[in-house]
Amino acid sequence: MRAILLPLLLCLPPLGAQHSDADLKNPFQSPDDRARGGAFFQSQCANCHGIDGKGGASGPNLASGTFRHATNDEGIFRLITKGVPGTSMPGFSMNGREIWQIVAYIRSLSAGRSAVNSTGNARAGQLLFQSSRCLNCHWLNGTGAPRGLDLSAIGSRLNSADLVVALNDPSADVAPEYWAWQATTKSGETLRGARLNEDTFSLQILDHTGRLRSVLKADLRSQSLDHRSPMPSFREKLTDVQRNDLVAYLASLQGAAQ
Ligand code: HEC
Ligand code: HEC
Repeated sequence: MRAILLPLLLCLPPLGAQHSDADLKNPFQSPDDRARGGAFFQSQCANCHGIDGKGGASGPNLASGTFRHATNDEGIFRLITKGVPGTSMPGFSMNGREIWQIVAYIRSLSAGRSAVNSTGNARAGQLLFQSSRCLNCHWLNGTGAPRGLDLSAIGSRLNSADLVVALNDPSADVAPEYWAWQATTKSGETLRGARLNEDTFSLQILDHTGRLRSVLKADLRSQSLDHRSPMPSFREKLTDVQRNDLVAYLASLQGAAQ
């Protein structure tokens, strides 16, 4: 995927042609990418845009979630490479990956403000959430699956674009603790769950029933690890309107008890 996207970056449309049908998705937006983007930002951009990106002596606020010159990630990418002609905003000739990392960092500055920018109806999204079995696996404000990933503050961590990716492509960026582990013991038992820890002789497993177990490697006949998410994709299960509503609801979850 990355190998295909990088050459594509070289033939991006010129500044001004912002009518691409499908937005080009930022391929570098893991927490690590964001951190690297933050470091570039501190060294290259902060003296004008402020160390927190909220605006400085000679550059505007980049943390509001909306941009005068760009409507999407691709637009921000282009702005950084070309600059804004006629202003002090210079163009930067870093490699494509570094620029995408800066874009990821800039986006993270407005995560949590996404509810304001989202076009969806959060109330309708809440009803969808309750009827879509999300709580079979997730935990929210005291209900749902106790060991599930907690969504109570998801809107303060992910912006609308990230939330859309989380719903459409759950397997795009899965933390290792959610990788699905499966094994067969020498006595023929099948074990499934998440691998919490591993040492030379044993594995600590959270099995699919939610039980913590320690398993001796010597007792296993085979084991495998699947890097995909256990979460199903909702790409085909939701209409665009429903997805917007659901994202607006998720973006509104800021951690306060509701
Ligand atoms: C010398 C000062 C300066 C530096 C360094 C600088 N910028 Fe800017 N930047 C500006 C100014 C001034 C503008 C506003 C241009 C205008 O009038 O529209 C701007 C605009 C922008 C915008 C568009 C904001 C909008 O609302 O559309 C983005 C995005 C941006 N800069 C990102 C960056 C990044 C990322 C870096 C570092 C890689 C950077 N800038 C470095 C001065 C700077
Ligand atoms: C079968 C269990 C399951 C179901 C059903 C499920 N999820 Fe998930 N979800 C997960 C797991 C496990 C993860 C963490 C791994 C990953 O990133 O995919 C996750 C990740 C997420 C994330 C990203 C969290 C982050 O911190 O990056 C969001 C947002 C999310 N789910 C929302 C939902 C919503 C909304 C629904 C219902 C429409 C839903 N999930 C249904 C299991 C599930």
